[in-house]
Amino acid sequence: MKAVVYKDAYSVAVEEVADPAITDPRDAIIKVTTTNICGSDLHMYEGRTNVERGKVLGHENMGVVAETGPAVENFRAGDRVSVPFNVACGTCRNCVDGWTSFCLRTNPTEGVDGGAYGYASMGPWDGGQAEYLKVPYADFNLLKLPQGTTHEADFTMLSDIFPTAYFGTDLAKVSPGDTVAVYGSGPVGLLAVHSAYLRGAARVFAIDMHPDRLRIAGEFGGTPVNIADGDPAEQVIEATGGIGADCGVEAVGYQAHEPSGQERPELVMDWLVRSVRATGRLGVVGVYLPTDPGAATKAAQDGRIGFDYGRLFQKGQQIGTGQCPVKRYNERLRDLIIAGRATPSKIVSHELPLSDAPGAYDKFDKRVDGFTKVLLHPAA
Ligand SMILES: NC(=O)c1ccc[n+]([C@@H]2O[C@H](COP(=O)([O-])OP(=O)(O)OC[C@H]3O[C@@H](n4cnc5c(N)ncnc54)[C@H](O)[C@@H]3O)[C@@H](O)[C@H]2O)c1
Ligand SMILES: [Zn+2]
Ligand SMILES: [Zn+2]
Repeated sequence: MKAVVYKDAYSVAVEEVADPAITDPRDAIIKVTTTNICGSDLHMYEGRTNVERGKVLGHENMGVVAETGPAVENFRAGDRVSVPFNVACGTCRNCVDGWTSFCLRTNPTEGVDGGAYGYASMGPWDGGQAEYLKVPYADFNLLKLPQGTTHEADFTMLSDIFPTAYFGTDLAKVSPGDTVAVYGSGPVGLLAVHSAYLRGAARVFAIDMHPDRLRIAGEFGGTPVNIADGDPAEQVIEATGGIGADCGVEAVGYQAHEPSGQERPELVMDWLVRSVRATGRLGVVGVYLPTDPGAATKAAQDGRIGFDYGRLFQKGQQIGTGQCPVKRYNERLRDLIIAGRATPSKIVSHELPLSDAPGAYDKFDKRVDGFTKVLLHPAA
């Protein structure tokens, strides 16, 4: 089959690789209909991870079941499914507790809990930017979707970024009437704006530097704040009568930077702590790494992000963070899509065949005007 493989920093290629095969009775093989490129893929693309050359990429996958192992009971060939990016066993202590993003069984990497498809340090699982994908523990991991092709561009957000964005607002405990500060208007930040309103927020600030992304935030009802116009924490504090937002979401991660492009991994955390009032909660879903040889400072290379912890303590704020346990949210978010209450597809900018992946990675990585979220269709 054809698949997108990692070659080197700033280089991916579509190559012929072996078809996946059922090796455990609980496996299923999915024929991939849609697979997205994620901001998280860019960490690998930019050479900022230890991903091995030849790895098949892609953790945001959906499709139709092609084949099931003999122990799979709830799914059969032809079922339309969403595949959470977490590879989870369903029976370890963390999975039983609902923390499928920290499964104790699916990632052999020393010191790292939680598996994912096609990702550095997240276990041996091939990704789904390919014609077919093997899903282990299929009964536990797969989410059933309505048959046919309806809402394809909405449902494809259920594998990662819609649940991740919602998780950010859940960690931030966004409640009816809240004012919320969302840092980052990439796909995750934009859907955090959407999620905050789904939870009843009164007002949501969307903070970024790209006018095209801030425009989409406006379509979700967000109030755009451009960091190029001055200190965004000041802008939020001023717009809230000097009080600050009730809570906040961080959807940027360790490659946070100035509008000039200069990386400062602590920058957004500093702004977030200042933007949110005392005792407010912060949902930090942007990725930070314990080691990052490409970081701008020695401290950040060792994962030491020197943000203003003193002010966080003084304000009595609480932080929640980590990889999203997709299964906790994907079924309910699916039903909001079916009911017409959620439309995460608003962020989609491009739908392309798999063969266009190399160019799409390049343009998405450069945040070229308009490249917000790319969906790949392997069968196209
Ligand atoms: N926790 C999880 O489970 C999980 C899942 C998916 C993605 N993520 C992470 O979430 C983050 C966002 O993902 P994405 O797909 O939206 O990525 P993205 O790279 O498309 O978006 C990031 C946005 O942050 C903006 N940004 C950079 N510096 C900024 C600053 N100083 N202030 C405000 N905005 C700034 C960029 O302009 C960009 O629009 C990434 O770190 C990604 O790895 C986490
Ligand atoms: Zn993703
Ligand atoms: Zn588990």
